[in-house]
Amino acid sequence: MDNIGIYVGLDIGTASIKIIVAENVRGQMNVIGVVREPSNGVNRGVIVDIDKAANAIRKAVDAAEKKANIQIHDVVAGIPANLLRIEPVRGMIAISDGSREIENQDVIDVASAASLHNLPPEQEVVDVLPDEFIVDGFDGIKDPRGMVGVRLEMNGNIITGPKTIIHNLRSAVTKAGLELKDIVVDSLALGKTILNDGEQDFGTITLDLGAGQSTVAVIHDHHLKYTFVEQEGGQFVTKDISVVLNTSLENAEQIKQQYGYAISEDAGTETFPVNVVGKNEPVATSQKYLSEIIEARLEQILTNIKKQLEKVGALDMPGGIVITGGAAAIPGIEDLVERIFETSAKLYVPDQMGLRHPAFSQILAIVNYESSMNDVDILAKKSMVANEMDVSENSNEKPISRNAKIKSNKTRTSSKVESHRTVQSENRQNNNESQSLKSRFSGIAKWFNDFFE
Ligand SMILES: Nc1ncnc2c1ncn2[C@@H]1O[C@H](COP(=O)(O)OP(=O)(O)OP(=O)(O)O)[C@@H](O)[C@H]1O
Ligand SMILES: [Mg+2]
Repeated sequence: MDNIGIYVGLDIGTASIKIIVAENVRGQMNVIGVVREPSNGVNRGVIVDIDKAANAIRKAVDAAEKKANIQIHDVVAGIPANLLRIEPVRGMIAISDGSREIENQDVIDVASAASLHNLPPEQEVVDVLPDEFIVDGFDGIKDPRGMVGVRLEMNGNIITGPKTIIHNLRSAVTKAGLELKDIVVDSLALGKTILNDGEQDFGTITLDLGAGQSTVAVIHDHHLKYTFVEQEGGQFVTKDISVVLNTSLENAEQIKQQYGYAISEDAGTETFPVNVVGKNEPVATSQKYLSEIIEARLEQILTNIKKQLEKVGALDMPGGIVITGGAAAIPGIEDLVERIFETSAKLYVPDQMGLRHPAFSQILAIVNYESSMNDVDILAKKSMVANEMDVSENSNEKPISRNAKIKSNKTRTSSKVESHRTVQSENRQNNNESQSLKSRFSGIAKWFNDFFE
């Protein structure tokens, strides 16, 4: 089921913040407004200065409000792949009254049982992805609701991420005066937008060449199998140009975009003027020379990525490599990637009006992903809220209100889940973080409630 309504996506990049306001009308995403505004307080894809990032987000949101002619209250933000971990999980609950039909709350409970994990203290769950449900031993069920059984199991994956990154993202969004409706894992969403069905099925690598970092993801069998970040991107190419040609970063960026090639052999011998620091007259520089500088850095970034993919045995994918991200806008990038990885490569550029630049792929993916989540995906994600809300309940804090339809009915929940929850709650209480967790999930809780209303 597609979730009809307005979606506001937020992609906080190192170089720029992108916002899309889109409307989903019966599965059709209509982009109402899109902005790309300078970023601040972000280093190598991660928020490092909350106040600066919040100001930059606010400016971008103001611009998006004007463009789309709407007031923006809440946003869905992407979370970068830095130190994300994907782990297979399995959960089971007993349904005491085997004669009643499985309901929303049972799906939440089984997902909750699956995602209760002994995580390192610096990690937390960012997504719960059900693969299949098993009702009394019958497997391969995508949606168990409405079925009857005494034992409900779930197989799937959880994605965990560093608390610092999630906390900084949440704080920056809140300080910008917005509610964080949901967090979407960037590389999970990206594959679903930039790869076709066959590519997602047979296996393909996505490569998002950003400004501060390059994000790699391995998608196979429609699942995100592996993702990692190489902490260099287009910004490093610009810095090299600036240093080698002795020109300002601004000039370097402009000439890179105007004259640069990813492969120096493809560049002509044509020259162009460069304003050099300490010289009154511009210096003539050839496209070939400029492209040699560009190629050297890109080659280094891509070679590092290749080594990492080789290490995990994920280099040879039938779908090859699909490249996107702002730095992929440089002519010749596909050829360079093909040469280095010795596999097929193609460039993805969104084809919607106003988005025809590879820098917009990620933000488009965030809103696409959010709007196409089905009921079961949403309920599974709700289990994160349920787990965290139990912390508040145990610590005598006022719990976040739940919608009547997905109201917890603990007498129905198995003792197995209950005991897991107690352990989890104690651990979390030790961390003394219940207040921040509660506030972190308040936006998501509201969103679930709205969705099921
Ligand atoms: N035409 C172009 N030719 C070469 N590089 C380009 C071009 N257009 C944009 N870029 C580069 O793309 C980068 C910005 O891309 P993008 O917007 O995807 O990054 P970001 O999302 O802000 O950063 P990150 O994802 O690393 O946090 C910049 O380094 C910029 O120089
Ligand atoms: Mg980016």
